Amino acid sequence: MRSGMGKVAVGSAVVCAATACAVAALVVRHRMRSSSNWARAEAILRELEEKCSTPIDKLRQVADAMTVEMHAGLASEGGSKLKMLISYVDNLPSGDEKGLFYALDLGGTNFRVLRVQLGGKEGRVIKQEAVEVSIPPYLMVGSSHELFDFIAAELAKFVASEGEDYHLSTGRQRELGFTFSFPVRQTSIASGSLIKWTKGFSIDDMVGEDVVGELTKAMERQGLDMRVTALVNDTIGTLAGGRYYDNDVVIAVILGTGTNAAYVERAQAIPKWHGLLPKSGEMVINMEWGNFRSSHLSLTEYDQALDDDSLNPGEQIFEKIISGMYLGDIVRRVIWKMAEEAALFGETVPPKLREQFTIRTPVMSAMHHDTSPDLKVVGTKLKEIFGISSTSLKTRRMVVKICDIIARRGARLAAAGMVGILKKQGRDTPPSAGEKQRRVVAMDGGLYEHYTIFSKCLESTLSEMLGDVSESVVITHANDGSGIGAALLAASHSQYLGVEEES
Ligand code: GLC
Repeated sequence: MRSGMGKVAVGSAVVCAATACAVAALVVRHRMRSSSNWARAEAILRELEEKCSTPIDKLRQVADAMTVEMHAGLASEGGSKLKMLISYVDNLPSGDEKGLFYALDLGGTNFRVLRVQLGGKEGRVIKQEAVEVSIPPYLMVGSSHELFDFIAAELAKFVASEGEDYHLSTGRQRELGFTFSFPVRQTSIASGSLIKWTKGFSIDDMVGEDVVGELTKAMERQGLDMRVTALVNDTIGTLAGGRYYDNDVVIAVILGTGTNAAYVERAQAIPKWHGLLPKSGEMVINMEWGNFRSSHLSLTEYDQALDDDSLNPGEQIFEKIISGMYLGDIVRRVIWKMAEEAALFGETVPPKLREQFTIRTPVMSAMHHDTSPDLKVVGTKLKEIFGISSTSLKTRRMVVKICDIIARRGARLAAAGMVGILKKQGRDTPPSAGEKQRRVVAMDGGLYEHYTIFSKCLESTLSEMLGDVSESVVITHANDGSGIGAALLAASHSQYLGVEEES
């Protein structure tokens, strides 16, 4: 019995030892695997950091390339990826604009309608009122008829809700400035055809069509008696709105869903404009800088994949590494790779990580700005979006690092683009005697407005690049400048110009 029990005891001791060994081996293997996984994740991060690095020399090359492309785009049609579109705005607002005008702003996931009562030099903007409506996603890829009917119906509602305190002179037709924030080849201040869609819009029957014509027909279908007297890009509207408040505004930049810039060009400098020369000697140019591309941009595999999966592959490359529509999705792609190759979230990869745009830029921004010691916001977002129940602090830190690399690259490149414009204008050197001391950039867009780390980084990069000159460069945040700007341009191109405004 004893010896028998002894055998059993010995046997179970052997089994126990074997199990313990196996468990220990598993633990060791698991530790080894997780440490090699972590090493892999770090390697992915290092590679990203390297590829996205934007040392000052590189930024200078980007700025120079921007200047070169601006010249090329101005010199000949199709001479550059930069379209350098003529806006037909050769007279920026003077402050004399008077009367009731409307603006319609279409260019992102929302559109805005605005009415503004202008009171001339004395009264300025007497009052204004706006509504914002989100565009159902199916309308962004449907037919032009449907999209414009939707917009015109909202516009009609807006007009119908007008209070007594807005005053349209008797016998006058309502006039509208239409901000259409896509590349348009203009044929006059109030007409032009769509060159191509950007920012996730894709309505085939619209390309090449007369934009104002489409809106006018839709307004007629809604029984709305309104005339478009100015068709502008959001950059042009922002520049006009900026100039109304500050005489030194010479550049406008949009950093929102998309990105773009406009600036004031000396008309005499452009040979192809002879014969079409503006009265004032100046012309505002819509650069469409979102389509800028240069070998100095050093794209990563994530940028490449994002572009391949986009509605406009090969187009808008600058926009795809800078703007709000895309930044979050680049971050998602890096996290996804870490999940696949380095088991960042354990053995299974959350399926939503494979879906485009599951990390929107506002979410990226919220994670990036998380200052809580345990990065609570990062944890919550990962849980809400991907269903990842718990994440280590190490993992959360990794996510924040990725956001940081992608946001800083975008901000620094945008700053380099701005320096390129200042160079083209000859404003990247200290103002000489007799020259204006201030060079003001009117800036608008949700990315700039809400993503503080991005906008701070952009500003510090500008200083880094410009040195002392940066003291004369001022950025003003033109909140909804483009709406007011479009209304002002509608006023300065009113069909009733020269006709006395009744009071
Ligand atoms: C896209 C459009 C451009 C617009 C910009 C900012 O780049 O093509 O026209 O100005 O987005 O909204």
